[in-house]
Amino acid sequence: MERLKIAIQKSGRLLEDSLGLLNDCSVKVDNGRDQLRAQAKNFPLDVLYLRNSDIPQYVEDGVADVGIIGENLLVETGCQLDTVLPLGFAKCRLSLAVPKGQPYTGIQDFQGKKIATSYPNTLRNYLQRNQVDAEIHVISGSVEIAPAIGLAEGICDLVSSGNTLFQNNLVEKEVILRSEAVLAATPQMSDAKRSILEQLVFRMESVLKAQSNKYILLNAPNERLEEIIAILPGMKSPTVLPLAVTGWSSVHTVIQEDKFWEIIHELKAKGAQGILVVPIQKMII
Ligand code: PRP
Repeated sequence: MERLKIAIQKSGRLLEDSLGLLNDCSVKVDNGRDQLRAQAKNFPLDVLYLRNSDIPQYVEDGVADVGIIGENLLVETGCQLDTVLPLGFAKCRLSLAVPKGQPYTGIQDFQGKKIATSYPNTLRNYLQRNQVDAEIHVISGSVEIAPAIGLAEGICDLVSSGNTLFQNNLVEKEVILRSEAVLAATPQMSDAKRSILEQLVFRMESVLKAQSNKYILLNAPNERLEEIIAILPGMKSPTVLPLAVTGWSSVHTVIQEDKFWEIIHELKAKGAQGILVVPIQKMII
């Protein structure tokens, strides 16, 4: 029987979330990362643990059928892959930064300057679009140290929390690209593999949807039931069950987590009590 091959980071920021997502999809993979290859026991999936920078090329060549990759790397390598699903983790931006205290009026300030980066292609395109002629100095890591040791006047690197910039006395000035982890696929795939991919994507979508939603239960006085239901933006219509105490009902529904904080005070003001917010494991609509 055919199996789908998925490439994920051997080490790095995406690894833990990638394995966590497969686990949440009930795809059980041996944690034998030293083997560089593992088989899922209960799903037709083989996992290839690869160097981050190699993944787009391997997927483009069809060595792996799909990969979990940062969009930043897809843009930088220019590999022609199909982005199947944004995964919502490893959110970051590729930004230009300069030393703290250095006057900065706009992108034109980089004219004639030296910029250190591990993303030369993305940076070159951005500079060209903005008609800035700067020298690009390519280094593969620890880019943030470049200005302090006299290698460059500015840097272009990934920023997530901003902590690395702060620690190195740098200030973010321009965002070139926003990125998150995506599931990307080789455009050529057999029908059998595409069908496995569809099953995997179905599971991933239901896990991702569940992560951003919560199951909410509350007790409502019957005379205010309609007002309370009107505030709740549920999947369809909430479930309403009578409580043992007369005059009260239990209301159950699903809402987006961020919406919950917007309406909690309104719910309480209308008499809702005993409000419980419960995580959802999988959500299929
Ligand atoms: C990335 C990036 C920055 C840092 C930014 O490096 O190159 O150095 O993260 O993150 P922050 O804004 O949260 O501090 P990473 O540690 O992923 O390793 P890398 O150097 O191999 O890219």
